[in-house]
Amino acid sequence: MGKVVVTGRIPEAALETLRAEHEVDAWAGSESIGREELLARVAGADAVVSLLTERVDGELLDAAGPQLKVVSNVAVGYDNIDVPACTERGVTATNTPGVLTEATADIAFGLILMATRRLGEGERLIRSGQAWKWGMFFLLGSGLQGKTLGIVGMGGIGQATARRARAFGMDVVYQSRSEIAPGVAAELGARRVELDELLAVSDVVSVHCPYGPATHHLIGAEQLAAMKGTAYLVNTARGPIVDEAALAAALRDGVIAGAGLDVFEKEPQVHPELLDLENVALVPHLGSATVETRTAMAVLAAENSLAVLRDEQPPTPIG
Ligand code: DGY
Repeated sequence: MGKVVVTGRIPEAALETLRAEHEVDAWAGSESIGREELLARVAGADAVVSLLTERVDGELLDAAGPQLKVVSNVAVGYDNIDVPACTERGVTATNTPGVLTEATADIAFGLILMATRRLGEGERLIRSGQAWKWGMFFLLGSGLQGKTLGIVGMGGIGQATARRARAFGMDVVYQSRSEIAPGVAAELGARRVELDELLAVSDVVSVHCPYGPATHHLIGAEQLAAMKGTAYLVNTARGPIVDEAALAAALRDGVIAGAGLDVFEKEPQVHPELLDLENVALVPHLGSATVETRTAMAVLAAENSLAVLRDEQPPTPIG
């Protein structure tokens, strides 16, 4: 029996999966585990099941010790994990692609609707108790039919968002490191373009690429200025892909019409200027937040750990 350390609360189904084969030490606090506590707990672990709120770096791997075999992130994004540091130490790193694709695309589309149809503004107005009544020009938004969605990063979540856009009568362009399969491109009516063209032609730009040095502030002041003045930006990927100060300025100055954000540059902090703007919808990193999806993510992470501890190939290794 090995020792598995789980760095935060995860669904019981995943804990049971782990407990069937190993001793499990799972942090059960309602707050995130503190760094010192985490470093102490991982000592002697054979596997670490990590949440995206915990940094897994050389310090943590060394605190765990040389017996550590696997780090299983309960997330598709793994910018919290120093993968080269894992590789150097012979530790397998895994993530959870696939199982959160549809839930995250739902939230991307929810934010597109919130931003373009001013749903947050309407909700705040009613809750404020202010008088209101139907009016021909009251809280007019922007329709999606016949408009163009530009997808930055056309992996599974980008494609699932494109599928939703087609159902809303939108055209789709995308920017991605690689071309998607011709059959999928035809089904989605999606055309691959460079980022410059995507920014110029899109009525909504939705960000779905992974975060790393190559995508830090991929969308900054220059890119926002290249968008249509009537366009919207949505980010459900990782906060630092968008320069939040530049976005706040662009929203304030009318450089673009609006935005919807599920992720933030210094999460959980939100740029204070964004909080004062009506034309941005803000939700607290809810992309994968359904009971079904979080259970599937945690069970997949558990299966990844178990596979490595059995000396088998894990279902979803990173890289
Ligand atoms: C992920 O899996 O990377 C998501 O951001 C979690 O919600």
